Amino acid sequence: MTGALAVQNLTVRYGAFTAVCGVSFEIPPGSVLGLVGESGSGKSSVARAIVGLTPSRGAIRLGDTDLSAGPVGRTRQVRRRVQLVFQDPRGSLDPRLHVGDSIAEGMRGGRRSARVAELLELVSLDPRVAELRPHLLSGGQRQRVAIARALAAEPAVLIADEVTASLDVSVQAVVLNLLRRLQRDLGLTMLFISHNLAVVRYVSDELAVMFHGRIVEQGPAEEVIGAPEHPYTRSLLAAIPQVGERRLLSDDAVEASVTGDPAPPPGCDYRLRCPVGPAVRPGMEICETSDPAGGKDDRLHLAACHLAEPRAPT
Ligand SMILES: Nc1ncnc2c1ncn2[C@@H]1O[C@H](COP(=O)(O)OP(=O)(O)OP(=O)(O)O)[C@@H](O)[C@H]1O
Ligand SMILES: [Mg+2]
Repeated sequence: MTGALAVQNLTVRYGAFTAVCGVSFEIPPGSVLGLVGESGSGKSSVARAIVGLTPSRGAIRLGDTDLSAGPVGRTRQVRRRVQLVFQDPRGSLDPRLHVGDSIAEGMRGGRRSARVAELLELVSLDPRVAELRPHLLSGGQRQRVAIARALAAEPAVLIADEVTASLDVSVQAVVLNLLRRLQRDLGLTMLFISHNLAVVRYVSDELAVMFHGRIVEQGPAEEVIGAPEHPYTRSLLAAIPQVGERRLLSDDAVEASVTGDPAPPPGCDYRLRCPVGPAVRPGMEICETSDPAGGKDDRLHLAACHLAEPRAPT
């Protein structure tokens, strides 16, 4: 059971609140889709829907296997094939279990201790770590154990949700390099989630940018980074600290969008914050009246913006 992970028209609601609205993407086997967007944009909801932890609508397929039925309809075999690693390794490792037992939990058959040692070596940890309890490990070591634990199930798809967010910057790079190496060596299909575009661009083949529950731009990573078409993507790029560069978006604006209500339909959801839209430019009525749905043509790089213009990479 391998093949592309395909999500079509995925919608996640919590009561009356729509956290994910009509999200579609396809991750070819062995490649990495980076999902980026600010806090609250719906990234984790997408991840939880794919592994069946959150009810959703729409289609989720892994190759020929339908995952849309949620956890109840999934066999154990299917559940093993898609593994999720979370932000906080403290939450995903049972503090009462030795590290080795935590890793072995997801394994089939015999040779478990030998396999645990192999997995620990795979994530560059000393196999003797198996005898320890998680509280004796550093954050970076714990995150490696969480990755080893996910790999124990021999997944086809690994979903990494903010796996480096709780780590020191120096340790982040080590864990990112580890993930990239494992993804290539094991041929994993990966959904890599982070609010940090600098982190996402480092590991991803394709990028999808989320804002208020929707994907506003999607395409090959080097194109989205090199020639961003959506003003929101440009603001994320501008927010990556770079000496001598002005930030397009103030922290106040980010704060307002997290706590405030989304803009009402039918106009563009981003228009109130858009640095090139109707808030700053007269004559942009189209942004007020019409929802700029992406995917109007068959290009690989798409942006849901009335102002988006395909441009040559800079
Ligand atoms: N169980 C829940 N019940 C109600 N609302 C929820 C629930 N989980 C998430 N939400 C809301 O759904 C929206 C999307 O949340 P989600 O966790 O998917 O965002 P995110 O992009 O992963 O954010 P972050 O970068 O902070 O992890 C947020 O507004 C959040 O408050
Ligand atoms: Mg999240």
